[in-house]
Order: sequence, then C-alpha cells, then structure tokens
Amino acid sequence: MDFIVTATGKFEGDVNVPGDKSVSHRAIMLAAVASGTSRIAGLLYSEDVLATMRAFRQMGVELDELTDGLLTVKGVGSGGLKAPRTDIDLGNSGTALRLLTGLLAGQNVEATLTGDESLRKRPMQRIVEPLLQMGAQVTVGRSGVPPVHIRKSRRLQGIHYRMPVASAQVKSAILLAGMYAHGETCVDEPLVTRDHTEHMMATFGYPYRHEGFRICLAGGGRLQGTTIDVPGDLSSAAFFIVGATICRGSRVSIQGVGINPTRSGVLTILEQMGARIEIGNRRHAGNEPVADIVVRYAPLKGIEISPELVSLAIDEFPIIAIAAACADGHTVVRGAEELRHKESDRIFAMVGGLEAIGIEVEERDDGMVISGGLVKGGRVNSYGDHRIAMAFCMAALRSAQPIVVQDCDNIATSFPDFLACAQNAGLDVRQV
Ligand code: S3P
Repeated sequence: MDFIVTATGKFEGDVNVPGDKSVSHRAIMLAAVASGTSRIAGLLYSEDVLATMRAFRQMGVELDELTDGLLTVKGVGSGGLKAPRTDIDLGNSGTALRLLTGLLAGQNVEATLTGDESLRKRPMQRIVEPLLQMGAQVTVGRSGVPPVHIRKSRRLQGIHYRMPVASAQVKSAILLAGMYAHGETCVDEPLVTRDHTEHMMATFGYPYRHEGFRICLAGGGRLQGTTIDVPGDLSSAAFFIVGATICRGSRVSIQGVGINPTRSGVLTILEQMGARIEIGNRRHAGNEPVADIVVRYAPLKGIEISPELVSLAIDEFPIIAIAAACADGHTVVRGAEELRHKESDRIFAMVGGLEAIGIEVEERDDGMVISGGLVKGGRVNSYGDHRIAMAFCMAALRSAQPIVVQDCDNIATSFPDFLACAQNAGLDVRQV
C-alpha cells in the first residue's frame, strides 16, 4: 500500500494518539505471568501488540477485550504458561520477540519464536549471550537472527551483565529472566535506556534497585495482578509534534502523552532546534509520567545532536530528520549506529528518502548530516518501516509537490489510526 500525501496549508486541532507500544507489550507480558487478574486501560491495539496478545493465547492465557478497549488478562502465575503447539509468530515486533525470549527462558516452556521478513533479519545474539550466561537453553541460527528456540533448562542463575549496546530490549530480556533466576541479576547500561520494564515490575509489586546506570533485582519474587493505565505514545505523538512545528500557522494539542525522561529526548532535541512545545497538566498514569502537549509552528535551526540524547530518542530519528530537513543549517547525528538495526536500516532509509525529496544529506556509519533546504516532493521507499513511512508523510507539510510514500502497510504495527488522525489535522493523505 502506497500513500500520496499533499499539504493543504493547514495542520491543527486535537490529536488522539494511541497507547504506548512499549508499555502495552510489558503490561500484557507481566499480567500474563502474574497471580490474579489484571485490567489494562488505554492499551494499544496495533499489529505488534496483537502479536504479543496472540502469543500468550497460544500459551493458554485468557485475554478478554471489554468495552472501551479495556483488556482483562487472567494471570497464570509463575510456571503456569503452557508450551505453544506451533511456532509463535511475532510479526514485525522486535520488542515482543526479545522480551518474550527473556521471559520464557526462565519458565519451563519450550517454544520457537519467529516473525516477518524484517524481524528475521534483526540481531538476537545480543539477548542470547547474556541468557546463555544465566544457564538458559536459547539458540538462534548461525547468522544470529530469528527463529529463536527456547528449551527447558535448569533453574537460571542470576548474573551481573555489562551491556555492550544501549538497548532497553536487552536490559528487559535479562531482567525478565532474572525474576526466575537464583540470586541477584544486575544489568549495567552504557547509556540510560527506557525504563518501562522496571516501572511495570514495580506496578505488579516486584521490587528492583536502581543505582546510576545499574539495575538489580532478586529472583524468586512475586507479580501480583493489578490495574494499569497505558499513557499515550510519545513516539506516535512525535509525528504530530514535528508536523505542527514545520507547518506555518499551525497549532496541535495532544492529551495524555507519556513523557518519561528516558523516552523524551525528542522534546529536548526539538526544543534545542527552536520548537515551541508547551508541556502542561503533568500527572501520572500508572507508574508513568504523562502530560498534555501543545505545539505551534516555529522556525527551526540545525544543531549537533548530543550522542547522550540518542538512546533517549532512538525511535524518533526518522521524524527528527524531517525536522532537520526543514531547519536552517546543518543537523549532525552521530553515535546512532543502532539505527541500522531497527525495523529497517534507518540511516540508509532516511538518507535515501531525504535525497528523493530534494534534501542534501551525507550518510555516515553512525549517523548523518542533514542540510536544511527546500522540500521538493518525490517518491520515497519506506522499506516497510512504519516510522520511516509516517515521517515522510509529515514531510509533505513543507513540500512543493506531493510525496508518494511506498510500502505503508506496517504503519498499523504502531499507529493503526494514523491516516485518519493525519487527515483530521489537515493533511491530504490518500492510498494509491
Ligand atoms: C524498545 C526499545 C528500543 C526501541 C524499540 C522499543 C522497547 O529498542 O527502539 O522500538 O520497548 O524496549 P532497543 O532496545 O533495541 O534500543
């Protein structure tokens, strides 16, 4: 499915962004293995999260969708999951596959986890290595990509692990396995990564310790079913925040967005570029900080993005690149080689897309240098990557000619209502 996107000169209104993807996966996973029933409000019903729901149904967990999107999950308790009869297909979702591997490694369950063409190219050695150190029986193919096979093992042993890459998925896989390990498990991060797993564990009553860049927990604790409110997804909101910022005369407001500081690097980066973002009505949803956000048009300037901000904005680089294309001067992204291991090689995909719409950009191994300029329009390959596709839809707000964005089906993995939300705000997006 391709989209043709044309600016109408207007981009405004109230935008409802869907529930946070990272929080939704974690809420389902912990609810499934907790004792008692959990109720999850505001869950994201996107393809990635539906894959996680299907996985637990395959393992005998009852999940019921009630009115207003409320999901109830009847937790089966520690050791209560059943071995799935067939392979578990996690579609496009790296988070589902990596976190589930960690969770299942410590349970007495045999399973094979796989996914779509993109997921079957993504590196898994980064989770296999620490899990093997814990005594798990986890294997992947010779090139280190899915399918992932998990077999029964003796009780896992807690480890102290220094992560070579800043990855919340790796940290989470180890911590989830650590809940079923003997003794203490500690993870040292090279840079701060999103801490939703830790927050979600606390919501279910599982204690952990956080000291600087180290997170520790003791195995053998208990997860108690609970009620969870999933905040709006800042990663989805980011498309509308940048859309409003680059479109003259615009004003967009977004309610109830998660602003967890381990995730909100995009706000810092855009503010450094000159964006006008008001954050008000700060409160908490579950264990996560949320706020209402109002954004108005502002002229942007290019900046050097500090490498310390990269892990705090890791999913927002496609849309940050669009902001940079509309800014005055050069924007430098470095220390971001992880972008090459996402749903697509995002450095390659962004460089190709920016060039296709008339923007000068230099590709580097660990980032890119974007020269702000006039967006002319053109045909962009999204490589089936939801965030690349949504980012280039927003670029049309500043484009002289329409932008055709190819291969947009996977937008449904994170933001099923994107098309309607973008149309409501004033963007002319149609399927071609
Ligand atoms: C995620 C962690 C990040 C992010 C991904 C979601 C998570 O990946 O890119 O979209 O929910 O834990 P890494 O852990 O690979 O950095």
